[in-house]
Amino acid sequence: MYSLATKALHLLPPETAHDITIKILQWLPVYNVIKNLDLQEFSQDILGMHFKHPIGLAAGFDKHAEVFNKLGQLGFSFVEVGSITPKPQYGNPKPRLFRLTEHQAIINRYGFNSKGLEYAANQLQKQVHTCITGINLGKNKDTSNDAEDFLKGAEKLINQADYFTVNVSSPNTPGLRDLQTATALLPIITGIRQIMQQHSRTIPLFIKVSPDMSLEQETTLFEFLTEQAIDGIIISNTTTRRIGVETHLNSAIQGGLSGPPLRALSNAMLQRAYKITRGRVILMGCGGISSGKDIYEKLCAGANLVQLYTAFVYQGPSILKRVLLELKMLLVKNGIKNITEIIGSNPIK
Ligand SMILES: Cc1cc2nc3c(=O)[nH]c(=O)nc-3n(C[C@H](O)[C@H](O)[C@H](O)COP(=O)(O)O)c2cc1C
Repeated sequence: MYSLATKALHLLPPETAHDITIKILQWLPVYNVIKNLDLQEFSQDILGMHFKHPIGLAAGFDKHAEVFNKLGQLGFSFVEVGSITPKPQYGNPKPRLFRLTEHQAIINRYGFNSKGLEYAANQLQKQVHTCITGINLGKNKDTSNDAEDFLKGAEKLINQADYFTVNVSSPNTPGLRDLQTATALLPIITGIRQIMQQHSRTIPLFIKVSPDMSLEQETTLFEFLTEQAIDGIIISNTTTRRIGVETHLNSAIQGGLSGPPLRALSNAMLQRAYKITRGRVILMGCGGISSGKDIYEKLCAGANLVQLYTAFVYQGPSILKRVLLELKMLLVKNGIKNITEIIGSNPIK
């Protein structure tokens, strides 16, 4: 049933299809696609959270926290809602979402369309949390104080989140990726930690990074985040590069590219991050996952957890069962009892 619905939705323009999907999820009951799966070898306790398996839905799908309860019911181990900006904002003019179907990829330049903090807080309060709920914080385009925006989000949503992600890596908000420095991040990290203290509620803090940094900038950032004892890093957001899709009609469209063409770029970055962080920081691998093998590779590169988005758009909810079964087969083939045994087993020397 889900695969038919997914095919039908792909006949519509991409953003319309997405909006209808959100409405369907809001109004119709869903069933758990991995209900009968034994998840024993996939479970992990990380940073005080219990993950029944390593796959979460990446930020940007449930931008306004409207359907995370249903996504949890479908079978995701965790869902990251957002990015949420303090004030509501429209984002970039439409069209701003493009399919590269031949590559199972997407280019988006939404530019943080967000219904804002008030709306999201309301949604997060009224819905049952059916899985681990991460909240991805963004900033308004016209803000006069970038750090303040992230702190406003943390202050408002601290009681609704299982973890926070500071998103300084979307390519569609001017200046956002410039915040990937120690100078810019220190007041944000310190400020969010203070808010947690004031509310007597300490939850894990992740930083989501871009795969387009120079090697030097990336190394400095990972070293800084490790020194700061940040809980986790999400690697990665979308790329402005066009590796492997150069000849596609939509290739020149401005925005962030996601899906399989992003995979090698973000996997290599994950390996480099693991070399620096060596288990002291939890790494979440994100970018181009569409099979169990893709997940296996990210775990070996150093990720404890993974997130996907684009493959869910193309394949629908059944992807969850398929990739978990594929991962299970790979574990059996290699005599692995629990995924924790392979994390970081393929480092760069
Ligand atoms: C349409 C779309 C919207 C996105 N919006 C956000 C967002 O608001 N915040 C964010 O941190 N990442 C956002 N992302 C990036 C994804 O969370 C993810 O990092 C990226 O798509 C790579 O994963 P994938 O190849 O599995 O899609 C978005 C991605 C897509 C395709």
